[in-house]
Amino acid sequence: MSISEAVNSKDTFLKSIDERLQIQRLFAATRMVASAPGSDVVKGLTQSPKSLPAYYFYDDRGSELFEQICELPEYYLTRTETAILQECAGEIAKITGACELVELGSGSSTKTRILLDAYQELGYPLRYLPIDVSAGMLESSARQLLQDYPQLQVYALAGTYELALAQLPPTHSPTRMIGFIGSSLGNLNRQECEIFFSQITNALQVGEYFLLGIDLHKPKQILEPAYDDSQGVTAAFNLNMLEHLNRRFDGDFDKTEFEHWAFYNESERQIEMHLKSKRSQTVQLKSLNLSVNFAAGETIHTEISRKFDLDIIQQQLATQGLVTIQTWTDSNQWFGLLLCQLQR
Ligand code: TRP
Repeated sequence: MSISEAVNSKDTFLKSIDERLQIQRLFAATRMVASAPGSDVVKGLTQSPKSLPAYYFYDDRGSELFEQICELPEYYLTRTETAILQECAGEIAKITGACELVELGSGSSTKTRILLDAYQELGYPLRYLPIDVSAGMLESSARQLLQDYPQLQVYALAGTYELALAQLPPTHSPTRMIGFIGSSLGNLNRQECEIFFSQITNALQVGEYFLLGIDLHKPKQILEPAYDDSQGVTAAFNLNMLEHLNRRFDGDFDKTEFEHWAFYNESERQIEMHLKSKRSQTVQLKSLNLSVNFAAGETIHTEISRKFDLDIIQQQLATQGLVTIQTWTDSNQWFGLLLCQLQR
């Protein structure tokens, strides 16, 4: 279908929400199937120093707390990125032209709307491919969007980024843009970040786009409160992981016996989040047959949030064929948005 056909298509306009929504659940090939549930918990809690995979943050309560973090006065990231997007979405739409939007970790998709509005304003057809591990979350936010954008088509992919990037359906538009905003890149370590960029490169055709939002390095007096707010919401978010583990694995973590600990590691340029045991104690996770001893003051590492430099990240992207064609930042230079194009 040509662009003008799509724009003028009364069919699309009159289609019901169900007709405009497709959800594909992605499964790993057998050889890729992850090991037994909880084996990552056993591994993390039996090594030294102890750690837990960050995805255990996101049960229903965790997702709710995360939405609250985004509203905190100290958490400047969401506000700043939203303001940048409001400024530059029109420019992005003009640069890419008619474009299908793929989004990694779509969440409540508030920021996505800014982009959809920009494409809609230019009269381009709207096709959105959100990717998220939570199928429930995908469906509810997709339905909301479909209601608000009568011309929108949604093709949702429920699964990990890795699976989704390897199995993107064929494009319906002249070009495609993969969006990865919210500085989620910062939650990957250096090695994971390299692998992730190569997955992006493999998922794109030459000439297609990658939109990346990153939090920039800044004084720790600004960074640390963003991850340790005065109302204790980030603390509750971190500690909620223990309740999630209790529920999943029949555990007896007492979250009042742990405390939230977050600091900026200047030399690594990353926020590190830990849970610190207030005293020596033993915790059982019955369904994993696991008993874990904690010394007083011992920590469990739960998350990193790396902070970037605009020039260095551009060089890193370029080595993978992702050439930055435009960057935007706020007046404080706290947050950066990069529009890259695969050129090879
Ligand atoms: N990517 C965002 C950040 O690094 C959001 C985020 C991920 C976050 N994990 C977090 C925020 C833990 C607070 C605490 O800031």
